[in-house]
Amino acid sequence: MSKKSGTIDTRLTLMRWECPGVLSLTLSPLAGRLPRPEPGAHVDLHLPGGMVRQYSLTAGSSSDAYVLGILREPRSRGGSAAVHETLRPGDVLRISAPRNAFALDPGDGPVLLIAGGIGMTPLLAMAETLSQGTRPWSMIACVRSRKALPFAGRLSQLGARVRADDEDGVPDLPALLAGVSPDTHLYCCGPGPMLDAFLAATADRDPGHVHLERFEQPRPTAGEGEVAVDLARSGRTIVVGPQETILDALLAAGVDAAHSCRVGVCGTCECQVLDGEPDHRDLILTSEERGEGRMLICCSRAKTPHLVLDL
Ligand code: FES
Repeated sequence: MSKKSGTIDTRLTLMRWECPGVLSLTLSPLAGRLPRPEPGAHVDLHLPGGMVRQYSLTAGSSSDAYVLGILREPRSRGGSAAVHETLRPGDVLRISAPRNAFALDPGDGPVLLIAGGIGMTPLLAMAETLSQGTRPWSMIACVRSRKALPFAGRLSQLGARVRADDEDGVPDLPALLAGVSPDTHLYCCGPGPMLDAFLAATADRDPGHVHLERFEQPRPTAGEGEVAVDLARSGRTIVVGPQETILDALLAAGVDAAHSCRVGVCGTCECQVLDGEPDHRDLILTSEERGEGRMLICCSRAKTPHLVLDL
C-alpha cells in the first residue's frame, strides 16, 4: 500500500452500472492491503481538478478492494460528474483511510435499516455484516421506481424489502416504524426530506437508538435569522444570511475557510468558537467536542445573534 500524508493510492479496477445513473467503483490497493473496512465508514476520494468528495464504502468492500456506489447527481457540484464523465478503469485514484461517523452499534439488539435511493450504500455494508451474525435485523430500501434501484441483486440476496414510490407511494415513516420495538437501533440514510421525516417520526425514541447520515446539505430552517460572525484573527465581521451557511458566507466574502464535503461529514471545516452559542447541526462532533467549543461551519449556525470564531 502506498501511503502519503495519510492517503492511499488505489487503482480503479472495475466500473459497473448498478442502475441508470449509478456507477459502482472498485478500488484496489496499488500495493499491500487496505485498512479493514467497517460498515458505515466513508473515504475521501481525490478527483481530477483537486476536488475531494466523500463516499461511503458499500457491500463487497474488504481489505483487498473498496466498493463505492456513486449517483450522477443532477445538481452535481462537480464531484459525481467527474466520476461519471472522466474516470475510467485503470486510473490511479488517491483516497483517505476510512473514517466512520455512522458506525453500527456494537450491541446485540435488533436493527432496522431504512435506505432512500443512493443512501443505501452505507446501509448495504451494514446489512452485509449483519447477515453474517445472529443479531435480528431487517432492511427497507426505498426508491422512486424499481428501474432506479441500484444494487438490486445484492438487496435481493440480503433479503431487503424494496418499496418503490411509483408502486407503493412515498414512504410513510411513522407507518414504517409502527410496531418497531423501542430497543431497535434505527439507521437511516437518504435524501434530506426523508431524513427530516425520519427524525420527526423518531423524536420520542431514545436518541441513542436513532442514527442517520446525510449526504446533502441540510436545508435552512424556516424563520432562520441572520448571524454576525466575527473573525478574531482578521477582525472582520461577516453577516450570514438566513438562506446561506456560515461557510458559504465566508467563502463569498473571500475568506479562505477550509472545507470539503459541505454536509457535516468530513470535519474539514471545524472551527473553534470563542464567543456565542453554536446551533450544532452536524452528525459527527461528540458532546465533549461541542463542549470544547468546536463547531462545523458548513452546516451549523448559531443560537445567538453573534458568534466569534478563531479564524
Ligand atoms: S466541510 Fe465537511 S464537515 Fe464541513
